[in-house]
Amino acid sequence: MTTNPPAIADVLRPLRAATQALHEALDSQLPIARADASLADYAAHLRALRPWLQAVRAALAAPGVPGLDRLARRTDRRLAALALDLDDLGAPSAGAHGTARESVDAMPAALSEEAARDPAFAWGLAYVVEGSQLGGMAMHKRLAPRLAPHPMRYFQPVDAPCGPAAQWKDFVAQLGAALADPAAEESARRGATAGFRSLMPRFGL
Ligand code: HEM
Repeated sequence: MTTNPPAIADVLRPLRAATQALHEALDSQLPIARADASLADYAAHLRALRPWLQAVRAALAAPGVPGLDRLARRTDRRLAALALDLDDLGAPSAGAHGTARESVDAMPAALSEEAARDPAFAWGLAYVVEGSQLGGMAMHKRLAPRLAPHPMRYFQPVDAPCGPAAQWKDFVAQLGAALADPAAEESARRGATAGFRSLMPRFGL
């Protein structure tokens, strides 16, 4: 017997419902989301984001699931784009191992431990990190003309030979397959919420 894959909206609905208010807080309050955001805002945004992205990358790899491993590698490429952008901007870099403040941060270990115990939690984190590319593209469209010639590489999609819409659709199909029962769905909701909640303090929210 074959079953039809769940519709995109059905896969995303519970995760969107769980994180909508958190996304709205970022969307409405991050300096980089303002129409007059500067390259200094962009550099500050990347510096705040990097330790979080490193932590999420580690958590995606923690369960040892091939689909999540692929997303961890994609996150590596986003981290590489982020590092090039910071280099271009001459922004003081935290370096590969982070600053002292980052090293005392308990966030990386907590996300990875939970993800290793429960791959569905990691799929919830993947929703946040993959979805954030959609916001990045919106900000690129808004800011790139004014901030040219800086390429704002981090806000451009990586690994999307068929385009970002197809990449997102493909991701949601994998997400739907991974969240086949209510327990997995609940774990993914916790992962998505933890993804946002671990990010907010990095922006003082
Ligand atoms: C780093 C912080 C951010 C994270 C983690 C994040 C996360 C997400 C996620 C998970 C989605 C997917 C939502 C879904 O379709 O279910 C998304 C979409 C989106 N985000 Fe963000 N976001 C961030 C910042 C922003 C900011 C600052 C803006 C404001 C411009 C923004 C605008 C958008 C837009 C326009 C979409 C696409 C909505 C759509 O096409 O349906 N995001 N983001």
